[in-house]
Formats: sequence, structure tokens, C-alpha cells
Amino acid sequence: MPTPVVAQGVCKRFGDLVAVDSLDLEIEPGECFGMLGPNGAGKSSTMRMIGCVSPITCGRLDVLGCDVRTRGREIKARIGVVPQEDNLDAELRVEENLLVYAGYFGLRRRAARRRTQELLEFMGLEDRAADLVRTLSGGMKRRLVIARALVNEPELVLLDEPTTGLDPQARHHIWERLRLLRSSGATLLLTTHYMEEATHLCDRLVIMDRARVRILGTPRDLIRGQVPRHVVEVTRDGIDGDPVSRLMHILGPHATDLESLGDRIQIHTDDSRAVLDRLATAGVDDAAVFERMATLEDVFLRLVSPPEGT
Ligand SMILES: Nc1ncnc2c1ncn2[C@@H]1O[C@H](COP(=O)(O)OP(=O)(O)OP(=O)(O)O)[C@@H](O)[C@H]1O
Ligand SMILES: [Mg+2]
Repeated sequence: MPTPVVAQGVCKRFGDLVAVDSLDLEIEPGECFGMLGPNGAGKSSTMRMIGCVSPITCGRLDVLGCDVRTRGREIKARIGVVPQEDNLDAELRVEENLLVYAGYFGLRRRAARRRTQELLEFMGLEDRAADLVRTLSGGMKRRLVIARALVNEPELVLLDEPTTGLDPQARHHIWERLRLLRSSGATLLLTTHYMEEATHLCDRLVIMDRARVRILGTPRDLIRGQVPRHVVEVTRDGIDGDPVSRLMHILGPHATDLESLGDRIQIHTDDSRAVLDRLATAGVDDAAVFERMATLEDVFLRLVSPPEGT
């Protein structure tokens, strides 16, 4: 099986704006690969170049062993795409959306009907087959877009924010389906703003910021390698006076990694016991203190520069 995605020095420019800069990436067959990054980081631009709907400005990009500059049609026939914005035909019925798509891929009527039925069942939409798309909820529409992306049994599926705006149950349902898809051999490339989603689903991921990849690794290695193991959060109003300098004083040698985040101060530490003891000894109210394991979100916040003007 060819390497699903190989990018070498790929960039994308819109006039003077650099949306993707010198991207080097190799996605392995059968893996679920994630792209994280703040708004405007260049995730969708990358997806669109891989999906052959947006030409690369420079570099070389091979998808399923084919050069995107010359073999876009062939690539499109072998991939599935879930775009960031739903682009379903709202005036068609649910099943018609899939049948029309099956037609694009050259499936005959009977095969198209069978595939449509299978996919509606796979995504839990069989009861809504005859309903107009505009009567579906946001989560159902997202499931339908995913079903539609699978019509041609793609080797590589591009999912641009597949679960944005969905409730936790709908999100878990999609995660379960994506895991099944991956175990059936498909390669998945997904973007998400949900760190938990990336942690649970992705074998490896990159964090992008301002058009560039900042880091690549497995979720576990990124968490272990980039931040201390624990975070003790203290709410600002739980501390008298200037909270940061007070905490520095209370924590002494354990105050090496403090971060102010909105209404909380985060203390990153490998020795949360010592931090908690010092807070208790100093009389900090227990209700203002919260201890947790470090997550991918901590890695993200550390690596990604805050937007200009903040
Ligand atoms: N068609 C376009 N024309 C001009 N600029 C564009 C176009 N598409 C994207 N951009 C710009 O390229 C940059 C990267 O955008 P992109 O959509 O790839 O970001 P993203 O990482 O997907 O962000 P989000 O998380 O908000 O979806 C942004 O500055 C955006 O304004
Ligand atoms: Mg995007």
C-alpha cells in the first residue's frame, strides 16, 4: 500500500499571505493522524491541498502514491472528504444525497442503493433516510457528511473538524465509527479543536501554528515530553493580594512553572503532593484548589502563541 500522504516542503500562499509554510509530513497506512492548531493555523488549507481542491504553491505532495499536481482526478476517486463546512444539498432527502454521490463515483443503481443502505446503518441514520436534509439536526447532518465521504470506500479519509458543535454523545458515536473505520484499514487524517478527541483517536498528531508545524508525536509522548505530569490549578479569588507573587512565595522552590490563565493560576509540577502541602500549610482554601493530570491542552497552550492583541 502506498504511503497515504507524503508532503515535502509544501506551501500555500494566498497573495502575500502564507497559509502553509514548508510542510514536511508522512502519514502511514492505517493510522489516524491529527492536525491541531488555533484558528487560521493552516489546517483546512493543508486538507484542501491533500484533497486536490486547492493547488499547492510550492513543494511536492503525493497522495496515495500520486502527485497532486497531475493526478488529482485519480486521487479524488480514492479518498473521502468531510469538509469543515457542511455542503449537503438541503433540499434533497437523506438517502438521495448519498445516491447522487454514488452516481458521481460510477456506482450502478443497485450497488448505489446497497451502499447507501449500509452507510445509513453505519452512521445510525437509517430511520431518517426519507427525510429532507434541512430537517436534520446539526449532529445528524455531520453524520450524513461522514456517510457521504465513505460512499467510494476510500483508502484515505480527510475529516476537517468532524465533530465541531456536536453534543458529547453524538461526538462519542462518531469517535466509535471512526475507530471502526480505521480498524477496517482506512487511513484517517483529521483536524479538531477538541484535545480530548485528538488524545483518544489519533495515533500521531501535529500541532500547527501560523502556517508551520510546531511539533509532531503521539499524544502520550507529547504530554510526557512537553509538560510536567500534573497541574494544580488555583482560582485567583482563592488567594489574597497579588495571586502570582503570593503563590511564588508560598511555593518557594516548587514555583518554577506558573502560568496565569483567565481566572486561574496553573502550577505545572511533577510533585503535586509537595505543592498541595504548601498550599494547605499557607491556609489556601481547599475549594480554590484543583489537581489534575497534564493533558494535550496543556501542551497546546504552551506551544501555540496567543493571538495578536491579547
Ligand atoms: N481562499 C482563501 N483566500 C485567502 N485567504 C485564505 C483562503 N483560505 C484560507 N485563507 C487564509 O489562510 C490562513 C489559514 O486558513 P485555514 O482555513 O487553513 O485555517 P485553519 O487552521 O483551518 O483554521 P480554523 O481552525 O479556523 O478552521 C488564514 O489566514 C486564512 O484567512
Ligand atoms: Mg479550518
